[in-house]
Amino acid sequence: MKPVPHLLDIAPLRLELLERLIERGFFFKRIAREAPERLKSPLCTGKRLVLLFFEPSTRTRTSFSLAAKQLGFDLQTLEPGSMSLVKGEKLIENFLNLGKLGFDVAVVRHPSSGALHFLSRHIGVSLVNAGDGCHAHPSQALLDMMTIKERFGELKGLRVGIVGDVAKSRVARSDIHALRKFGATVSLIGPPHFVPDTLEGPGVRVSHGLDGLIKGLDVLVMLRIQTERAAYDPLLSLSWYREAYAITLERFSSLPDHAIVLHPGPVSLGIEMDEEVLKLDRCLSYTQVENGVFARMAVLEWAMEGRGRCC
Ligand code: CP
Repeated sequence: MKPVPHLLDIAPLRLELLERLIERGFFFKRIAREAPERLKSPLCTGKRLVLLFFEPSTRTRTSFSLAAKQLGFDLQTLEPGSMSLVKGEKLIENFLNLGKLGFDVAVVRHPSSGALHFLSRHIGVSLVNAGDGCHAHPSQALLDMMTIKERFGELKGLRVGIVGDVAKSRVARSDIHALRKFGATVSLIGPPHFVPDTLEGPGVRVSHGLDGLIKGLDVLVMLRIQTERAAYDPLLSLSWYREAYAITLERFSSLPDHAIVLHPGPVSLGIEMDEEVLKLDRCLSYTQVENGVFARMAVLEWAMEGRGRCC
């Protein structure tokens, strides 16, 4: 099998590649404004890309779809419920068949952590991880870094707090890897069963209280409670969680004047974030969505460039 590039995780990527992808994302954002007819890439035009989401998605799926169309890919979207998986066919068999049908790139979201790593060892289609279980969501981390860089110019030295259900969050894992590569420091904040002390590492500290830290943060990343990934803990009442960790207008006023709030979405309004905060100029949740298209264009173009080099 010929080697092909995959985007599975942020952890193994070099800083230079992350920087290049983010700069390319900014390039696409500028071209989309100034000369959208120039967005099509000769590397991607007519190449076959399949979107395959085994979990629900609004932002990631739509932005990969837009990114693929703008680059000129021949895009096919498959619904797992209408594939032969429901007749008992194995996942690996499905992907071997997609390879035989001539797909160059597959953008895949799967509920099992590591599913794409497994597939990548067996197939010749470039895989782009659109979120695997609790493990990784690399394109989300790229668009998050793009959004932070756009506001601050650089990430080095920034103090970033990630608040919520970190243990089950693929977004948090990918953000932590990216933030550390760029030289930001990270505080993981939440109750111990969401933020166990074992998550602490170089440049990454764990805290179980938000109010003591909030004044010293440049960026606050809010996370949703991942009720689909674990039985909900009845000991954790939502009103208690909200009281201790939600970004309300009052808590927002404790942030430094330059600080921004991010949320990857979907937002559980009234639990981790109030609607009034979502509407503030310094809450960049919708900017993240907008940047997602351009960061994903950079990723898809990179995958095609790599196929040219590898094969
Ligand atoms: N941020 C994110 O992954 O959102 P979706 O689940 O809507 O794709």
